[in-house]
Amino acid sequence: MLCTFNQIQKRDNIRERTKEEMSRFRGANGGNILDKFVIRGGHPLEGEVNISGAKNAAVAIVAATILCDEPCIIENIPNISDIGISLEIFRDMNADIQVINKNTIRFDTKNISKPNVPHELARSMRASSYFLGTLLGRFHEAFVPLPGGCDLGDRPIDQHLKAFKALGALDDIQSGCVHVKADSLIGSQIYFDFITVGGTINAMFAAVKADGYTVIENAAKEPHIVDVANFLNSMGADIRGAGTDVIKVRGVKYLKGITYSVIPDQIEAGTYMVAAAATRGNVLIKNVIPKHLESITAKLRTIGVSVEEFDDSVRVRADMGGPFIKTNIKTMPHPGFPTDMQPQISTLLSLAEGTSTVTDDIFDNRFRYVSELRRMGADISVDGKVAVIHGGTLKGAPVKATDLRAGAAMVIAGLAADGVTEISDIFHIERGYEAIEDKLTALGADIKRVYVPSKNDLAMSV
Ligand code: EPU
Repeated sequence: MLCTFNQIQKRDNIRERTKEEMSRFRGANGGNILDKFVIRGGHPLEGEVNISGAKNAAVAIVAATILCDEPCIIENIPNISDIGISLEIFRDMNADIQVINKNTIRFDTKNISKPNVPHELARSMRASSYFLGTLLGRFHEAFVPLPGGCDLGDRPIDQHLKAFKALGALDDIQSGCVHVKADSLIGSQIYFDFITVGGTINAMFAAVKADGYTVIENAAKEPHIVDVANFLNSMGADIRGAGTDVIKVRGVKYLKGITYSVIPDQIEAGTYMVAAAATRGNVLIKNVIPKHLESITAKLRTIGVSVEEFDDSVRVRADMGGPFIKTNIKTMPHPGFPTDMQPQISTLLSLAEGTSTVTDDIFDNRFRYVSELRRMGADISVDGKVAVIHGGTLKGAPVKATDLRAGAAMVIAGLAADGVTEISDIFHIERGYEAIEDKLTALGADIKRVYVPSKNDLAMSV
């Protein structure tokens, strides 16, 4: 039977065996679930910061190694806990994983014998849904529990299943586990009812080795869609149009092993851009693709922040005085302003002169951080999908990271606030930001991790 207790137990044994290796991908500081950040605000960020590989590209590319018929080496993988979870999934499937260095991993997936992902691991992140597409593409069958990830409201996968069905797969959901199966996958036309990043990537995964020609319409255009297509094409896939709203995939029989480097993280870069601005700092943000940052750059300039673009870096300055200027923002799929930057830019707007509005209707519930920001003195009201922000100042307070980007917003707020901010639930932040406290400390921030031993650690130390 699928997703059984035995599987979980087996996974736990494997986890024991590979504990040391896995811990290298639990977030660069290998912390505990109860750890906190304590930030003393008021220090302008200054200097240079290197941006890591893109989380949302890496989690998909790592899952896509299942489609490859030979070993692959993936470079510039962000050292974050979501990748740690992906590696545990691979271990559970008996894949051969070698961590070459902190950002490079070799994947040999030929020994995978079962197309199953265990419950607990699938529930730990949204990207576990990518194993549906890659396992279906390779084995014509997959058992993957409904994915978890940030709690941003209801996050269905009906469009993913619609894509699989168009290619000939049947699906069935029992006890929270999705089972997809196809006798054969046949190229077809897939039309998404609305733009979905995960649905577009999963459709490419299922189509890449299908018989014949697939056309994906109303496709998402995010930079990581293009990166995933580039990865698949480098292995020998035939995908055209990634980055536009029509993607064409001609199925191939064989994908060869390659070495591939993940693109820089648009959202990590944007987060440091906003942090530099909010602290009235002067930071060179390196290893970025400035084109991917255009919507963020444009809004920062409107707010009165200087952004200078170079070939693979941007300099953000807000150290010349002058108030931050109110503005209105609506999040949109790429190339619009990304929902994953909404909590961070809203935090900056809470320091602006005047009243701004921010509309975010991509997810049901992306304003959960607002009640935390209010503890720091922010004047924000939320009505449905619209936040009205009356700018002012922020004061340090104890707050919680309610999800990944909400946590990033709390860090920015803490850096810009007067006094001390203590952020709990920082494990959310470590899902997507490599070594955030080290990078910020190097920029002059006063940020400390408070290690809080979990009950298990205490028991082991007795
Ligand atoms: N949706 C459905 N049915 C589906 C798929 C999506 O109703 O089958 C809905 C979602 O509930 C949401 C909207 O469509 O309301 C857009 O969802 P999408 O599929 O585009 O998002 P996702 O693939 O679940 C990825 C990122 C998110 C990012 C969104 C939007 C990954 C692993 N996650 O999620 O990243 O916010 O695209 O750009 O790539 C983050 O990094 O903090 C994060 C949440």
